[in-house]
Amino acid sequence: MDIWLDTTDIQLVHKAVKLGIVAGVTTNPSLIAKANRNQEEIVDDLLHAQEGPVAIQVLATDMEEMVQQGQMLYSLSNRLIIKIPLTQEGIESIHLLSRQGIPTMATAIFHPRQALLAALAGANYVAPYISRIEKIGENPWKVLQSISHIFHSYRMKTKILGASLQTIDHLLQCAECGISGVTVHKELFDKFVESEEHTLQAVQQFSLEGEKYPFLFAVK
Ligand code: G3P
Repeated sequence: MDIWLDTTDIQLVHKAVKLGIVAGVTTNPSLIAKANRNQEEIVDDLLHAQEGPVAIQVLATDMEEMVQQGQMLYSLSNRLIIKIPLTQEGIESIHLLSRQGIPTMATAIFHPRQALLAALAGANYVAPYISRIEKIGENPWKVLQSISHIFHSYRMKTKILGASLQTIDHLLQCAECGISGVTVHKELFDKFVESEEHTLQAVQQFSLEGEKYPFLFAVK
């Protein structure tokens, strides 16, 4: 399962690159607004900080503007993936962009029907919003299983990227569902990679035992 970073934080991207576990980066208008920096500069930094794709979301809600923004963004780099919220206007935008060879990610997915529509329109990725699905009282795992089952049944090439994850349990359940990837924000990434307390204790014990007999460990 691929790990994407849902961030504009370059330091976090560097950290993930060093660990060797980053497949790409996703952003959204809230993250750009929070960073309070020009979107083009952010995209440029994210493209330079890692070798994978960067998914960037259109702000427009009207179909023509969404397509126009998507085209303009894609002209910055062919490593960009255009994120389109899966409204009815979004379906048409995905269709038009994909016909021009511009890769798209259908985002803000709450229901399998939206994922099916996105795939039919030509989306490369669908991003179901795990914790937000939970918050509206629905079962995100049923949603994921349903999407996986539909895509698998019809051999659809659209990939599933779990988004809006809040906990390690969310991340692991996504992995158990066998989806293509997840996108994680900074706090969750830090929790994901932190050393386990029991592992640290085991290491400490090994070190104490080993230090008693240093000569046994000399490399000749
Ligand atoms: O990139 C968008 C998605 O990950 C939203 O996450 O945490 O704002 O629900 P969140």
